[in-house]
Amino acid sequence: MGNTPFIIIAIDGGAAAGKSSTSNGLSKRFNLMHVDTGSFYRAVTLKLLDTQVPAIEGSQLEIGLESLKLGTAIEDKKASISINDWIPDQSIRSERVNKNVSQYAALPTLRKFLLDYQREQAIVAKKYDFDGLVMEGRDIGSIIFPDAHLKLFLFADPEKRAARRAKEGIVDSIEKRDAQDSQRKSAPLTRPDGSILIDSSEMTLEEVIQHASTLVEKTIKTID
Ligand code: CDP
Repeated sequence: MGNTPFIIIAIDGGAAAGKSSTSNGLSKRFNLMHVDTGSFYRAVTLKLLDTQVPAIEGSQLEIGLESLKLGTAIEDKKASISINDWIPDQSIRSERVNKNVSQYAALPTLRKFLLDYQREQAIVAKKYDFDGLVMEGRDIGSIIFPDAHLKLFLFADPEKRAARRAKEGIVDSIEKRDAQDSQRKSAPLTRPDGSILIDSSEMTLEEVIQHASTLVEKTIKTID
């Protein structure tokens, strides 16, 4: 805090690539606000499923989204979305949401609905005296913060990723979601220009965080 420059770090990558654990490690080490945008898409998806709004463009979607009032709650350096005062819990990681989230996240109207909210998180982070923001997702380095000071793209073998999820006891179709997220027209999952690739297939989490931390330290020195 104080003299340290405000840094924006974008972390993108496929499902279960280690984005959340890496972001969490960096946020603690460098006093950054951690923003998991996947949880935003998950939370909005759950709300729309609960109100029977199908994953198609149209007035039902527009009306459904208009009824969602977004806020931010911060706990332990992590920014959580709140929707009509509801703070998402583990239900956003359920099989039901895993199965449906990519269809909803492909809708341009829904992405537009979350665009400014995601960018505004930088203002929230400054207001709460963080030294920066680490935001993870699929389009952070490409669309949300194309001028981020540091862009990381995390990759891991699909087998390793499936094993990670299974260990957490989560039912998820990682490859199917990756295929849907990469093939959609609106803000597809791609490796953004200027990003640094980290292949974590053969690395421990500590090694990934250490490697990413070295890159953050180098980047901080370049910020005026
Ligand atoms: O945790 P995991 O990496 O498996 O997924 P997530 O980050 O929680 O994201 C869940 C889903 O939200 C993704 O499969 C995408 O469909 C969508 N998403 C997106 O479209 N854009 C983002 N910036 C973040 C997530």
